[in-house]
Amino acid sequence: MEKKEKFTEELVDVHGTPLLRSIAEAWSQVEGFEARPDDLLIAAYPKSGTTWVSEILDLIYNNGDVEKCKRDAIFNRVPFMELILPGYTNGVKKLGELKSPRLVKTHLPVELLPSSLWKNDCKMIYVSRNAKDVAVSYYYFYKKIKIHPKPDSWEEFLEKFMTGKVIFGSWYDHVKGWWEKKKDYRILYLFYEDMKENPKRELLKMLKFLEKDLPEETVNKILYHTSFEIMKENSTTNYTMMPEDKMDNKISPFMRKGISGDWKNNFTVAQYERFEKHYNQQMEGTTLKFRSEI
Ligand code: A3P
Repeated sequence: MEKKEKFTEELVDVHGTPLLRSIAEAWSQVEGFEARPDDLLIAAYPKSGTTWVSEILDLIYNNGDVEKCKRDAIFNRVPFMELILPGYTNGVKKLGELKSPRLVKTHLPVELLPSSLWKNDCKMIYVSRNAKDVAVSYYYFYKKIKIHPKPDSWEEFLEKFMTGKVIFGSWYDHVKGWWEKKKDYRILYLFYEDMKENPKRELLKMLKFLEKDLPEETVNKILYHTSFEIMKENSTTNYTMMPEDKMDNKISPFMRKGISGDWKNNFTVAQYERFEKHYNQQMEGTTLKFRSEI
């Protein structure tokens, strides 16, 4: 029992990125993931809008058929590739059992992506979100996931976030790595803030990228069903179908606030100033720009 608790709380370095021990131990399975040419990869740093984009894409793939998209929880419809927790789930195996065309979720930094996804030239949609809102959202998420090492305080978590000592590593390297990669591969790079500002414009971008047409009426229906309010009430998207011993939604709901700029309710002035200074150093020289509020 003691061993299990220890096991669940440790992070292990995998080629420079901290990952859960169980994922690190099963790394050869993740590396060996067999992509198919018609896979669509949904990639994001945690808490950037992965579930939102996943639900939109499943609805697009099913031509807006809402009932069909309630066939299972989002984490089974769009399996989390690298999530391997023995006795509970194995994303690689789950995906192996899915019929094509598959939607594949990952939080991996670009350098750790299994090579078959590049070799098959799979289309990829990356969604990013401003660092301060991600840090806040990740903090609340960390507290409710049983296997995550528990931060003592927001202050401590923020420090870990800034130094990349959290699961999936440095936000800065993640967003910049994928930004660079899109020059050479079929990657649509989206921003959470753009989706909040104008969800229809961003959905149309996804359709264009997928070379798919949908009637205006279907587009509007998808937008309605993927609004924060509706997804919050939908048991297949709000993670209430996740066992409570894995994720405690009473601590904080998965669909928490769904806004841009919540960082203002969490950062002290001193934290903000330190964060901005560090941020500017980390992001120096990149053409990638974020909006911290809309
Ligand atoms: P908050 O914790 O700030 O509320 P991910 O799916 O990558 O884990 O991201 C989760 C974040 O996206 C949470 O942010 C969640 O509320 C937000 N989110 C999920 N669905 C959303 C939607 N339809 N509209 C806006 N935000 C959404």
